[in-house]
Amino acid sequence: MARVTALIVSFLLAAATGASARPSSYAVWAADSAIKRGQGNGLDSTGKASVSYEHGELQWGLRLLYEKTGNKTYYNYIVTGANNIVYDNGTVHGGYTLTDFSLDPIRTGPTFLYLYQQTKQTKWKTAADTYRKQLDGHPRTTEGQFWHKLRYFNQGWLDGIYMGDIFYAQYTKDFQVTNTSAWVDITSQFNLIYKNTLQASGSSNYTGLLYHGYDFSHTAVWASSDRGHSPEIWDRALGWYAMALVDVLDIIPSSNTGHSTIINILRTLAPRIRDAADPNTGVWWLVMTQPGRAKNYFESSGSAMFVYSLLKGVRLGYVQDPDGSIVKAAVKAYKYMVSNWVVTNSDGTMGWTNTVEVGSLSGNGTFDYYVSVGTILNDLKGLSAFLLASIEYENL
Ligand SMILES: *[C@@H]1O[C@H](CO)[C@@H](O)[C@H](O)[C@H]1NC(C)=O
Ligand SMILES: *[C@@H]1O[C@H](CO)[C@@H](O)[C@H](O)[C@H]1NC(C)=O
Ligand SMILES: *[C@@H]1O[C@H](CO)[C@@H](O)[C@H](O)[C@H]1NC(C)=O
Ligand SMILES: *[C@@H]1O[C@H](CO)[C@@H](O)[C@H](O)[C@H]1NC(C)=O
Ligand SMILES: *[C@@H]1O[C@H](CO)[C@@H](O)[C@H](O)[C@H]1NC(C)=O
Repeated sequence: MARVTALIVSFLLAAATGASARPSSYAVWAADSAIKRGQGNGLDSTGKASVSYEHGELQWGLRLLYEKTGNKTYYNYIVTGANNIVYDNGTVHGGYTLTDFSLDPIRTGPTFLYLYQQTKQTKWKTAADTYRKQLDGHPRTTEGQFWHKLRYFNQGWLDGIYMGDIFYAQYTKDFQVTNTSAWVDITSQFNLIYKNTLQASGSSNYTGLLYHGYDFSHTAVWASSDRGHSPEIWDRALGWYAMALVDVLDIIPSSNTGHSTIINILRTLAPRIRDAADPNTGVWWLVMTQPGRAKNYFESSGSAMFVYSLLKGVRLGYVQDPDGSIVKAAVKAYKYMVSNWVVTNSDGTMGWTNTVEVGSLSGNGTFDYYVSVGTILNDLKGLSAFLLASIEYENL
């Protein structure tokens, strides 16, 4: 009887707020909707095997959701997705070519390491070894930063830290925990990109945040003459980096000096990210260096990545938030996202809007370039970031 009453009450409440189609957990809804659409399953839209960092990002969220809910559906979907790009003998296919020396495919590596932990099946170790071997031969700047890709001569991009270094750290933890030079190298990847892309104080429109990337050789068309950095701060690039900071801290042993180096970077950036949010909406501009400029807009993937990073950073004590203003900023942004970027489809699935399709330093890196790229519906980079943000929000 009490249960029936509770059901009726919750139905009436839902109807009254007009939220009847919205399930109680946005994390579950986002994940179920991606699964229903067949997103992130190791196949491209034509059904061909495809190694994709977006799938790796979704799988990271599904793993967290599986750990939280115990629902095997999420685990099984990860297994299916990974099996679609790794043969039984451990060969990674789906377009992967080691000698492209691209950091992007390596974002699927944490999935292989996770499945190896869970199953002890050799194929996952073999697949992970392939990526580790790529890192051994990966081209670097003379300071030691991995190039984003072989074809991007001497360029470090913030995106690459998320793509390559979570895998590098987890692999080191699982198989080479005493390999000091690997831990030093991982820390150095975070440090070098920070040092080379940090916006100098005194710059106009100062945010104290990080430009999208840099060219150590200063030859790219967009490279600044003084330090070789690109001209704008792009929200998603910084979002990838912020997520990498909070995720790698779970992996690097806290006794390692790299742990405090990375915490210090996070503690510097977190309040600046908070302060860069638009004061009205609480979310972040696509081009963070040019707030309010015509054609600039509030972008959903970077905003969701910041919410995840800020909430997780505070929850685990990596970031100090004595006055609560960081959590408050993240909550404000999260509420804006739910009201403005989450849509209910007629089949009951969740749709996600306002994620910019791409941002690359293969072009001229200008404001005009970033705002010329379109947004797409249900973009997996943004939807997965919203899943991650929702998991953190629902932990509060
Ligand atoms: C697990 O999740 C799936 C997808 O949301 C759902 O259909 C199923 O009922 C869930 N299972 C349990 C045991 O909650
Ligand atoms: C691994 O399996 C695939 C698919 O069966 C096959 O094409 C490939 O030659 C195998 N590779 C090795 C190293 O055995
Ligand atoms: C330790 O890590 C370094 C840097 O990645 C690598 O060159 C070396 O082969 C690793 N050592 C072992 C024993 O695997
Ligand atoms: C500073 O921001 C304003 C407002 O978005 C913009 O019009 C201007 O171009 C920016 N200046 C620089 C140097 O980026
Ligand atoms: C940079 O590229 C964008 C589009 O990709 C173009 O609209 C713009 O004119 C270019 N700017 C310069 C200075 O070349």
